[in-house]
Amino acid sequence: MANKSRILLTGAGGFIGHHLVKRLKADGHWVRGVDVKYPEYETSAADDFQILDLRVWENCLTATQNIDQVYNLAADMGGIGYITSFLADISKNNILINAHMLEAAKQNDVKRYLFSSSACVYAQSKQKNADVTPLKEEDAYPADPEPGYGWEKLFAEELCRYYYHDYKFETRIVRFHNVYGPLGTYDGGKEKSPAAISRKVAKATDGGSIEIWGDGDQTRSYMYVDDCVEGLIRLMASDHRDALNLGTDEMVSINHLVDMICGIAGKTLTKQHDLTKPQGVRGRNSDNTLLRKVLGWEPSTPLEKGLAITYKWIEGEVKKKEVGELAEVTGD
Ligand SMILES: NC(=O)c1ccc[n+]([C@@H]2O[C@H](COP(=O)([O-])OP(=O)(O)OC[C@H]3O[C@@H](n4cnc5c(N)ncnc54)[C@H](O)[C@@H]3O)[C@@H](O)[C@H]2O)c1
Repeated sequence: MANKSRILLTGAGGFIGHHLVKRLKADGHWVRGVDVKYPEYETSAADDFQILDLRVWENCLTATQNIDQVYNLAADMGGIGYITSFLADISKNNILINAHMLEAAKQNDVKRYLFSSSACVYAQSKQKNADVTPLKEEDAYPADPEPGYGWEKLFAEELCRYYYHDYKFETRIVRFHNVYGPLGTYDGGKEKSPAAISRKVAKATDGGSIEIWGDGDQTRSYMYVDDCVEGLIRLMASDHRDALNLGTDEMVSINHLVDMICGIAGKTLTKQHDLTKPQGVRGRNSDNTLLRKVLGWEPSTPLEKGLAITYKWIEGEVKKKEVGELAEVTGD
């Protein structure tokens, strides 16, 4: 975008938000970041960073003052273990954030608003096979999304459409398929599969074993964070108001993902499958036909390349922590 805009990013202390702030600043925009926390691993590049709880209406009004564009990325979310455990809290928190943010942005005359939805809105009945048919945007209906998080995202998508229908308020809706990369959560319970597996591999001794959730035959596709950021900027600039997939169509099983990460780490590890752990839908992949048509582009970072960068970063963080823990024990 040639013109300099005033842009609000909610969730700027989080994984995708932090990367997007860096990119928008590099593109020359003025950026306000809002979150309940600062980014964990680096200082934010935002011109203005405010700690605000966006479940609270007044805070949404403050956040959206003198802003041209909003990327609403703030959400209570995590990997499959987290989103299947806290159905009420996640739904309530995100409904409050999304309803308040839309209305506040409208009242403050924001020109364009992007909502970050998820592949968790897709009908579960269409994801029962590991060899799943890639999901097209219309496969979200008839509605049968992931309980809690998926229902809330699907309704927030609808709310964006209603704001355009009733007020001509310009909204964009992105449906991310798993995003991974450096500077993302890799432990503590909110991490997603590439980060969790990278952490387990980094901590394991060569020749040892790691625990895998489910039988490992479940499938997903994964998008590198730089591609995610590029897609977001392109979608915001487009005229497309309906929901759009943003992901890759390079589908892999979890077992294959583990093998790739072990290969990158140069370790031989035995997989111990825990069938009692949540594994989500059996298969999920993105159909990128509409994405290519609307954006004239699609994510292209090969999984192997993105995983190598991500693994190196997580391995470095794990080592730093181990050195810190050792120093605590020895009093250094
Ligand atoms: N990462 C993925 O694979 C993925 C997949 C599908 C959808 N998404 C969506 O993309 C968006 C960004 O995801 P992410 O991976 O960067 O997650 P993240 O958890 O790293 O970032 C979300 C941020 O929102 C903040 N937040 C939570 N509650 C808040 C509140 N009440 N007020 C203000 N800020 C609050 C969190 O502190 C966090 O920093 C989210 O909306 C998420 O649902 C992500």
